[in-house]
Amino acid sequence: MKIAMIVAMDEDGFIGKGNSLPWRLPTDMARFRELTVGDGFNSVVMGRKTWDSLPDSFRPLPERVNIVMSRDTSWIGEGAETALYVGRAIELAFAEGSDELWIIGGAEIYSMFMDRVDEIHVTTVHTGGSGEVSFPDWEKEVWRASIMKSEDIGHGDEFATTYTVWKRV
Ligand SMILES: NC(=O)c1ccc[n+]([C@@H]2O[C@H](COP(=O)([O-])OP(=O)(O)OC[C@H]3O[C@@H](n4cnc5c(N)ncnc54)[C@H](OP(=O)(O)O)[C@@H]3O)[C@@H](O)[C@H]2O)c1
Repeated sequence: MKIAMIVAMDEDGFIGKGNSLPWRLPTDMARFRELTVGDGFNSVVMGRKTWDSLPDSFRPLPERVNIVMSRDTSWIGEGAETALYVGRAIELAFAEGSDELWIIGGAEIYSMFMDRVDEIHVTTVHTGGSGEVSFPDWEKEVWRASIMKSEDIGHGDEFATTYTVWKRV
């Protein structure tokens, strides 16, 4: 089972403002959906705060097994499986028969899974100072950029973006 991370961050590393995304990027949302749905048997892992931030119409994220990390043993989210620790989330995805497990944030969850992922899919949003929630520090030396695709402003996107896939060296 491949374990990958997917994130959109601005040039300063910000990923969130309050408990929501700081920008509107339909092109990136479409890529997020296509990648994370994959063949229809994938799992996604998110933090309880990111789960709370999803609009009702997208909760649970359709066509994916939704795994939510919480330390609260009594937490229940309709349509989600709860994991209290990293190994449990991986075990749940594996037991569901997922080919791919996508770590979809937020900051606390990215941090916890950093050592476990094979790939990091980063959309750099060409703006700065977008919020107060940041992607954790990561050692760029152990990662190599393998795919890059740029999108200009347009198609409803508020900012230009560059999509890069980082794989472990
Ligand atoms: N730009 C992007 O790509 C992107 C993607 C996702 C999210 N975001 C943004 O990121 C922000 C949310 O990030 P965040 O870091 O504040 O919250 P988060 O990572 O989404 O969720 C944090 C929660 O995860 C649970 N948790 C944390 N560590 C845990 C552990 N060791 N074991 C079990 N559960 C654990 C806790 O839930 P309990 O409190 O229930 O115990 C904690 O409150 C929002 O602004 C959101 O919009 C951005």
